[in-house]
Amino acid sequence: MQQDSQRHRDGSAGDANYGVIGKRYADFRRPDPRIAELIEQALGDAQTVVNVGAGAGSYEPTDRIVTAVEPSASMRDQRPAGLPPAIDAVAERLPFPDGCFDASMSTFSVHQWKDLHAGLRELRRVTQGPVVIMTCEPGELDRFWLAQYCPEVLAVEATRYPPTQEIATALGKRSQIVPVPIPLDCTDGFNEAYYGRPEMLLDPAARRACSAWSFVADDVVRRFEDRLGDDLASGRWDARYGHYRQQPSFAGSLKLIVNHI
Ligand SMILES: C[S@@+](CC[C@H](N)C(=O)[O-])C[C@H]1O[C@@H](n2cnc3c(N)ncnc32)[C@H](O)[C@@H]1O
Repeated sequence: MQQDSQRHRDGSAGDANYGVIGKRYADFRRPDPRIAELIEQALGDAQTVVNVGAGAGSYEPTDRIVTAVEPSASMRDQRPAGLPPAIDAVAERLPFPDGCFDASMSTFSVHQWKDLHAGLRELRRVTQGPVVIMTCEPGELDRFWLAQYCPEVLAVEATRYPPTQEIATALGKRSQIVPVPIPLDCTDGFNEAYYGRPEMLLDPAARRACSAWSFVADDVVRRFEDRLGDDLASGRWDARYGHYRQQPSFAGSLKLIVNHI
């Protein structure tokens, strides 16, 4: 069970410290409308929704009654004025009675929880209808060319992301794992979102909005910047991967897991 003493100074309750890396999260991690549509569909006709690990509010529906849960004060502070303020709590111990929401959701968060299974049990406990989780499949991270340029960052990701089948099984029998295509101009700047815009990964602020980079040593990051920078300047990156600049979407590791009782 999550203890308050395990939380970072700003309240961050997962493995990443958003008090340090999260200040400009909302500038780079804007919800993508095409991905949002898939989440909307998965939530079905739910009127009340709890969003756990809500961060700055990405993908939160605006036409339903939403309760947001977010342990990091830096992230809560970035929520736009139109969204409800988030409750300071953790996935592993949700302060709600059984079955009090029609649906629940969590996007890009489960890999950071201290106790994945406790958090999933809590989501299922407080939800009558669908539980919707967006996350990455660790076994498919190497589809992305970043594996050739900074294997260290994807190795970090691979140890953090739980296998999607483990999540689906933990939630219950009626679970589906649905691939989420990543659009070329995806407005949500997670690493794979830049599959056709490699220059973005040379921006330290863009990288800071993807927590995995905070676990990679400085000299490794410098080597990555030099290699990718050189290959972009010489045309070597484009010779090998330039087709991605026009490819409308990328089938990477992003998945939606939807569980019905
Ligand atoms: C990458 S951000 C995703 C934020 C938002 N859901 C989004 O899609 O942009 C991960 C979020 O999970 C939150 N988080 C980490 N550990 C958590 C836990 N144990 N319980 C609830 N939220 C947690 C972090 O504070 C952070 O805001």
